[in-house]
Amino acid sequence: MAILEIKKAGDPVLKEVCQPVEGHINKKMRQLLDDMAETMYQADGVGLAAPQVGIPLRIVVIDCMDDHGLLELINPRITFREGTATDTEGCLSVPDIYGEVERSAVVKAEYLNRFGKKQHITAKGLLARCIQHELDHLEGQLFIDIAQSLRRKEKA
Ligand code: NI
Repeated sequence: MAILEIKKAGDPVLKEVCQPVEGHINKKMRQLLDDMAETMYQADGVGLAAPQVGIPLRIVVIDCMDDHGLLELINPRITFREGTATDTEGCLSVPDIYGEVERSAVVKAEYLNRFGKKQHITAKGLLARCIQHELDHLEGQLFIDIAQSLRRKEKA
């Protein structure tokens, strides 16, 4: 396992539309998932997308500290949305900035797990928000691009 460097806003990799993972999910890909999770936990984040560590592939890790635990999403796709909800978001690639973002309240998504098996998830609340935030990263979109308002974290 290794801690990876988190790319910050302004890095062109964060603007890329990421490529799907093709074919067999190999050892190198599972190593990347492990490293991304370790990097997310070390940074106290609840989600991390591969472009945030400089790799423009459709891979996301999420852990909202709920019953789902660590989620590893390969080639994720939202298949259903319902309602809207607005709440505060931040991002490991945009340190010290927070903003209000409107998202779908409930989403269903499908993705491949680390063994290449198709999975389905239904999410609401923080997890729904997190899935939408991370999937936006795969399209080269940051929350600051769509936030209704932004503010800088008060210095302690
Ligand atoms: Ni983010």
